[in-house]
Amino acid sequence: MNPRLDRLQTYPFQKLTALLAGTQAKAGVREIPLYIGEPRHATPEFIKRVLSENLSGLASYPATIGTEALREAIAGWLMRRYRLDRIDPATQVIPVNGSREALYAIAQAVVDTTRTIHPIVVCPNPFYQIYEGAAILAHAAPAYLNNVPQRNYAFDWDSLPKMLWERVQLVYVCSPANPTGHVMTLEEWKRLFELSDEFDFVIASDECYSEIYFDEAKPPLGSLEAAKALGRHGYPRLISFSSLSKRSNVPGMRSGFVAGDAEILKKFLLYRTYQGCAMSPPIQAASVAAWQDEAHVVENRRLYREKFDIALEILKPALDVSRPDAAFYLWARTPMPDPEFTRRLYQSQAVTVLPGSYLAREAHGVNPGANRIRIALVAATDECAEAARRIREFVAELRTGSGRAAGRQ
Ligand SMILES: Cc1ncc(COP(=O)(O)O)c(C=O)c1O
Repeated sequence: MNPRLDRLQTYPFQKLTALLAGTQAKAGVREIPLYIGEPRHATPEFIKRVLSENLSGLASYPATIGTEALREAIAGWLMRRYRLDRIDPATQVIPVNGSREALYAIAQAVVDTTRTIHPIVVCPNPFYQIYEGAAILAHAAPAYLNNVPQRNYAFDWDSLPKMLWERVQLVYVCSPANPTGHVMTLEEWKRLFELSDEFDFVIASDECYSEIYFDEAKPPLGSLEAAKALGRHGYPRLISFSSLSKRSNVPGMRSGFVAGDAEILKKFLLYRTYQGCAMSPPIQAASVAAWQDEAHVVENRRLYREKFDIALEILKPALDVSRPDAAFYLWARTPMPDPEFTRRLYQSQAVTVLPGSYLAREAHGVNPGANRIRIALVAATDECAEAARRIREFVAELRTGSGRAAGRQ
């Protein structure tokens, strides 16, 4: 077997299962899971209808590049959403089966061990663990750039020395970020593009949370939009990854796309032909309908806004927590080590959150996820409100000392 498989880290949810093994949640109360970033709002009926109307498509093999109709729907959405002058559906867009597989695959297609024997792939920290596994299996070493509250979670690009940038072949960014919710500013993009021009690396921009934001008048800046604003033509060395999973509440559909540099996408398409990851025809048809409709996305945001308003009002007096720029997570500070907080919260209140340190690595002397928890506001509004009240109660117990007693049981 590939020995690199042994270097893959346990997934955060497995670590959480191990943490909670043997811990009994408070009896007689409904458990509320807020640890997984799986959207749980209802899938719009029109998407299900289009999917079922196109089941005859199961009788044919799909092409890896997807249908023209889907690529045009995606290009149209990109141009509307990011006010782009042009994105060519023939060469600058490829449908993918959710952004996850494509985020993994891009490293396999990009990393070149003949250019340097020790290539580096830069990852945010904290981060979505796929980036790290993709780097390792592509024979590269991950390098972590910490995203910390002191810098409003922005990247400190210049914290990586020049001699390491020289070995960088791929940089993953996530904006809006999981778990911090940070949206990269034009200034962050500007410096990243300069570095990409200087050191010739590819940027994989994970934007699967781009449609979950709070102010209808201020959608998060996208990577292609930033490139346009900075006068870059043809999106050199830039690939944007997006997805319907969160935007349209269809994580089970596995539908997303990559868009950007045509030269890289041409090679990526070749890679994908061998990987065998063409999208099922009924899913392609349903995706066309989803990308063409915005009403359901506006309603989706309204639901998240409502949950953030309620949860923050309840939690703010108890925890150091604030509204993120975007996405559906609260990244709250804990008054004790995050795994202990998580375990005792589960025991005392039957609410499950994810320890922040499980989403980050120790780098530059710190684990930027330590003493943080990720709370995914994915459940129904009343359930999120109930969970927030229980978290507040738990923190109050800790303050009075009764929580300490419960933790020792
Ligand atoms: C940061 C980030 N990127 C990508 C994904 C993958 O989403 P999908 O494959 O459903 O598009 C997720 C899923 O939770 C995520 O949190």
